[in-house]
Parts: sequence; structure tokens; C-alpha cells
Amino acid sequence: MVKSDNITWHHSQVSKEQRQTVNDHKSVVLWFTGLSGSGKSTIANAVEKALFDQQVHSYVLDGDNMRFGLNKNLGFSAEDREENIRRIGEVAKLFVDAGVVTLTAFISPYRADRDQVRANVEADEFIEVFVDTPLAVCEERDVKQLYAKARRGEIKGFTGIDAPYEAPEDPEITIDTSSQSLATSVDQVLTYLADHGYVQLATANEG
Ligand SMILES: Nc1ncnc2c1ncn2[C@@H]1O[C@H](COP(=O)(O)OP(=O)(O)O)[C@@H](O)[C@H]1O
Ligand SMILES: [Mg+2]
Repeated sequence: MVKSDNITWHHSQVSKEQRQTVNDHKSVVLWFTGLSGSGKSTIANAVEKALFDQQVHSYVLDGDNMRFGLNKNLGFSAEDREENIRRIGEVAKLFVDAGVVTLTAFISPYRADRDQVRANVEADEFIEVFVDTPLAVCEERDVKQLYAKARRGEIKGFTGIDAPYEAPEDPEITIDTSSQSLATSVDQVLTYLADHGYVQLATANEG
């Protein structure tokens, strides 16, 4: 629903397809989802670096970072989480229009919110990457000491502890960082992109 009257879409003189042609790769959203500490940011950033090194225009939208700026007025209620993901979905869509391989690293616990983002882009423009690291492993890592706080009741509504995480039903890519190295995970994502014709990579399919 749009609040304003009297607005008209102004079409760009440069199309997404033209940008992709100049870039020599397609643009797409790699939507990382999983528990806090599962490895979303770590893998997304490593993939971004690997793509950059191969001259692929790529960019990470990271959950925590977005909450310092664009989404600084949002908390972690179900309603705010929904709005958080809606905004990131819209930003990711703009990045795809700009010709960029866009990686998003948000817990994004609600299936409906993720599916909404998927529905808002072309069918082949959304790749759901489920970072399926078991809760026990995430909690053992406790990189930011948030699980300890949540267990002590100092954080309410923490995903996996006292707020739900709805796992993807049919993700394009599934990664379990408790059983595979960071390098393997990066290679898995790059191979997917190359195999599905999003990018051409020098090394993704070798060995
Ligand atoms: N195989 C692995 N793949 C990715 N991260 C791993 C792996 N093994 C351990 N880790 C660690 O797990 C933590 C994941 O944290 P982070 O990427 O911030 O998670 P998230 O963004 O999902 O909250 C990092 O400290 C990372 O070094
Ligand atoms: Mg993160």
C-alpha cells in the first residue's frame, strides 16, 4: 500500500539488462538466513571478497549495520522485524536493478517475510541461503555474548531462545558451518552462482 497520491514512476534510460551486460554478470540477491552466530555475516563477507577479486560487483547488506542507519528506528518485535526485512528487501531489489550481486545477512526468522522479498523480485533473482548451524553450536560460539544474556533473561525475544526461527522449506543453498569450513561454504556459493549462469568465474568449478 502506497500512502502518497500524485506520484508517478519515472523510468530510467538505462535498463537492468544493460547494466548486467556492461558488468558482464547477472545481478541477484543472495539472502542469507539463520540464527545469530550461525555464520551469515562471515560467509557473506567472504563471498563478497571472492566475487570482488573476480571483478564481480558485489555488496553486503548486513543486519547489524543496517540497524545503525536505515533501520535505526526499528527494534526486535515481530512487527519491527517484519518492517526491517521489508526495507532490506526493497533496498536489495534496488541493488539488483543497479546490477549488483547483493548479499544480505539478516536472521530474518519469519518465513512469510522472506517469501515476501522473494515474491517482490524476478523468479531467478532470489537465492535463499540457509545457514543451518545448530542452535547448540551458535550458543557455544556466542560471539557477541547474546545467548548468555538471553538465557539470563536480559534480552527478551531472542531468536532461538524465546522467539521463533522458521527454517526455509526449500532453500536454494544450505550450509552447516558445524560440519564445513568457511572456505568450503564460500566455494559452495560461488559454484552455485557459476553453475546457474549468474557469473563466470575463473576457479569456481575447478578441482
Ligand atoms: N565454518 C565456519 N563458517 C563460518 N563461520 C564460522 C565457522 N566456524 C566458526 N565460525 C565462526 O562463527 C561466527 C559466526 O558469526 P557471524 O558470522 O557474525 O554470524 P551471524 O552473522 O550469522 O550472526 C564467527 O565468529 C565465525 O568466525
Ligand atoms: Mg551477522
